Amino acid sequence: MRKIEMNDQVWTRLLGMRSGMTLSNKSEEADPAIALYGPIAAASGRFVLAQVGQSLDGRVATPTGDARDISGPDGIAHLHRCRALVEAVIVGVGTVHCDDPQLSVRAVKGPNPVRVVVDCRAELTGEERLFHDGGAPVILLQSINAPQRSYKADVIRLRTGDSGLEPQDILEALEKRGLQKVLVEGGARTIARFMQTGLIDHLHVSIAPLIIGSGPSGISLPPIDALSEAHRPAARVFSLGSDILFDCQLKLAARSSAGEREQILMADPA
Ligand SMILES: NC(=O)c1ccc[n+]([C@@H]2O[C@H](COP(=O)([O-])OP(=O)(O)OC[C@H]3O[C@@H](n4cnc5c(N)ncnc54)[C@H](OP(=O)(O)O)[C@@H]3O)[C@@H](O)[C@H]2O)c1
Repeated sequence: MRKIEMNDQVWTRLLGMRSGMTLSNKSEEADPAIALYGPIAAASGRFVLAQVGQSLDGRVATPTGDARDISGPDGIAHLHRCRALVEAVIVGVGTVHCDDPQLSVRAVKGPNPVRVVVDCRAELTGEERLFHDGGAPVILLQSINAPQRSYKADVIRLRTGDSGLEPQDILEALEKRGLQKVLVEGGARTIARFMQTGLIDHLHVSIAPLIIGSGPSGISLPPIDALSEAHRPAARVFSLGSDILFDCQLKLAARSSAGEREQILMADPA
């Protein structure tokens, strides 16, 4: 497992890559931090990263909704690095209800992404913190059928399909505003919608050494019967310090899942 040792020089390099600079030599590519964050920083065109910070038992909150401090300090720094390397961060309205988040970059130096909330039914009142904290612009994604309210935000109204707003439409609407690199930060139902439509390039699962015992999980997909139907993405594992990170390549998994499933079945010791 490679260990991420971030320093000012590497971080400045990554922010430079975000602005279009290329690496100057091969030794830079060998740095685990460049290997992990470089593909996000250097991505051109559409790039969708999803991130979950969870406990050892796969929870992202207690049953009463306490979600603060699940990730350790290095897991939080990792999340803020990801925010700084993308152009927009997307959360579902459930996360705003539960956490009233700022979605800003505070643990590292870097630009704040535009904040995007999927609020299909216009549940937000306009009083939530992100509308009034003086931070990065806010975009609300709502159904054309939702009640019209006034917000301190750019409201995009989209047609709805069987399961609400189509993730493809969401990405296209953001692209029209110049936002191509996005971080889908949660919660479970919002990430699931993007996963089900095969639009996530990389999924980061950051695991902190605590056991909560019960509570919601970070990704909530429809149930499957057989493990052969499970997603088995290619994954790289990094030590962040306080937390362990799985960097999963979901697009690759979608392409190779059939072949991999065959190998997994053959290797089954049972
Ligand atoms: N640890 C972490 O990494 C992390 C990060 C973020 C949030 N969280 C935690 O996750 C929990 C919230 O998760 P959640 O799953 O309840 O909420 P959520 O995903 O933030 O929001 C869910 C809401 O958004 C709607 N929604 C999402 N995508 C939609 C789409 N494409 N079209 C229409 N509606 C859409 C859902 O509609 P439906 O009702 O129709 O499904 C639902 O009303 C909180 O406890 C929060 O603390 C943890």
